[in-house]
Amino acid sequence: MARRKLVYEGKAKILYEGPEPGTLVQYFKDDATAFNAEKKDVIDGKGVLNNRLSEFFMTGLQRIGVPTHFIKRLNMREQLIRQVEIIPLEVIVRNFAAGTMAKRLGLEEGTPLPRPIVEFSYKDDSLGDPLVPEEYIIAFGWATQQDMDDIVALALRVNDFMAGVMHGVGIKLVDFKIEIGRIWDNDFMRLIVADEISPDSCRLWDIETDRKLDKDVFRRDLGDLADAYTEVARRLGVLPKNTTPGPKPTLIN
Ligand code: CDP
Repeated sequence: MARRKLVYEGKAKILYEGPEPGTLVQYFKDDATAFNAEKKDVIDGKGVLNNRLSEFFMTGLQRIGVPTHFIKRLNMREQLIRQVEIIPLEVIVRNFAAGTMAKRLGLEEGTPLPRPIVEFSYKDDSLGDPLVPEEYIIAFGWATQQDMDDIVALALRVNDFMAGVMHGVGIKLVDFKIEIGRIWDNDFMRLIVADEISPDSCRLWDIETDRKLDKDVFRRDLGDLADAYTEVARRLGVLPKNTTPGPKPTLIN
């Protein structure tokens, strides 16, 4: 088979040219990074788990009418997606205070928020993805006011879906990040959910124990990241067959 053309390589994923115009292949790596890639490691099996989990959330969203870039899973690490023009924003939805919000406002992590809060960071690693107000986004032309209204509505639908699904398996959705892309059907522009939805981009806490089941396990050295993601996949019933990062083989003399 001819080598595929690489379109983009990010910290946790690679995009290749897809088989049809307007499609891409999204490959999930095992690389984990945090603090703008200052902390790095390779976590065996993370890519396989995130490929499955992102498929699970994206197909679930599509079933309730939320448009996403997901077309189909191709294999353990790859999925076919629609090519979009990514809006350079990280759209963050928070249900409970954590991370940078907790720090900024001096709130204890886990404090319930009066309502879901949607905030935006400008996607630029060299600047550390700074938080930006909507006024900047519109003034700099990254999105229009109409886009922003649509993005907030989309983000809140994703939040309701994700929070409900997670609650069903005993997990609290503390916060998450999505990215939004533009696609054109002739002259008609639509905004769809793109990138990935996985424990790399959510904060997920066990409802009973507050055990962290997301990338904070890696950021804060709280244990084995693959174990945490496997637990999320297991509870959701999406554990891939024969690909569980199970126990390491033991050598018998
Ligand atoms: O994660 P951190 O504390 O740096 O930032 P945050 O603004 O508190 O993150 C809110 C949520 O967005 C968390 O679930 C992060 O995992 C996610 N996020 C992400 O996936 N990618 C980023 N570049 C920033 C945040």
